[in-house]
Amino acid sequence: MAADIDWASLGFGYVKTPYRYVSNFKDGKWDEGGLTEDDKVVITECAGVLQYAQQVFEGLKAYTTVDGRIVTFRPDLNAERMVTSAKRLEIPPFPAERFLEAVDEVVWANRDYVPPYGSGASLYLRPYLFGSSAVIGVKPANEFQFRLFATPVGPYFKGGVKPITIRVSDFDRAAPRGTGHIKAGLNYAMSLHAIVDAHNCGFDENMYLDPASRTFVEETGGANFLFVTKDKRVVTPLSDSILPSITRRSLCYVAEKYLGLKVENRPVRLDELQDFAECGLCGTAAVISPVGKINDHGKEIAFPSGMEKMGEVTQQLYDTLTGIQLGKIKAPDGWIREIKK
Ligand code: PLP
Ligand code: COI
Repeated sequence: MAADIDWASLGFGYVKTPYRYVSNFKDGKWDEGGLTEDDKVVITECAGVLQYAQQVFEGLKAYTTVDGRIVTFRPDLNAERMVTSAKRLEIPPFPAERFLEAVDEVVWANRDYVPPYGSGASLYLRPYLFGSSAVIGVKPANEFQFRLFATPVGPYFKGGVKPITIRVSDFDRAAPRGTGHIKAGLNYAMSLHAIVDAHNCGFDENMYLDPASRTFVEETGGANFLFVTKDKRVVTPLSDSILPSITRRSLCYVAEKYLGLKVENRPVRLDELQDFAECGLCGTAAVISPVGKINDHGKEIAFPSGMEKMGEVTQQLYDTLTGIQLGKIKAPDGWIREIKK
């Protein structure tokens, strides 16, 4: 029976659901793992994650389709990216096949919390891996935990799909040759001061630039950028220090193969932003959130799409991607994984 939740008014917050998946790595191997109702993590005060932030994570969603199936969207790419992230932080990767089984098990066990079709909400899944044994000298832990919990969520930005205003940040997110391309908690810890400051100044998000030259656009704290030119080309920033967003990669495919648009993944200069017609933030949480204005130290770049609604191409991309996720539009092979007993 569906949980007693007002799905339409959900924001992007944590709601405890009954089951989560846990597996522990000890003596060089992952144990069998399984579901538990225990939402508490008990670890030593000296755990690697608590001392030196040895943690990586993922984010993906489960949806109810138009014909009542429960599905996840390209979870194999999250599994793969988590392996890359883990290796960079000296964490033994959680096998991709087991990651997919954990996703299936947690979604199925919490199926009453998968928001119904048409509610605009979804079940957000948060897999993560962290160093659980004691370390005091700077070195990797030798015991780790994988957990995966689920929480029903609504839109990431208040106001749903209304355009937001962002600012060019004076803080940097990721160093060249650093960890910007992996999904590690440490990248988000260092963005917390910048986001609080942005909110205090009346902005919804930060646009981070490349730290080396501060002339190219990177991404925001939790999403990649997507721009549309006046002649309807889709442009996404290329950089070694941004997270390879699964949503962005999927949207580029959709733009090319479903909408017949030209797509360019290339370095994007800050000083060319004023030439674009539309701008959006893309990610699992953000889906595509339209950006109406970018403030660069008082200089305002207002996109012709305005502050009332998404730009035309952004809307087409949004409708096609969400249509695929919700089973209304035929998905490319392998994009949709149905969850069933
Ligand atoms: N960039 C950052 C920094 C993110 O945290 C996310 C969210 O996962 C993304 C981009 C979007 O990635 P994805 O589309 O795989 O969710
Ligand atoms: C996601 O989109 O899944 C993320 O992890 C972004 C985070 C800022 C919520």
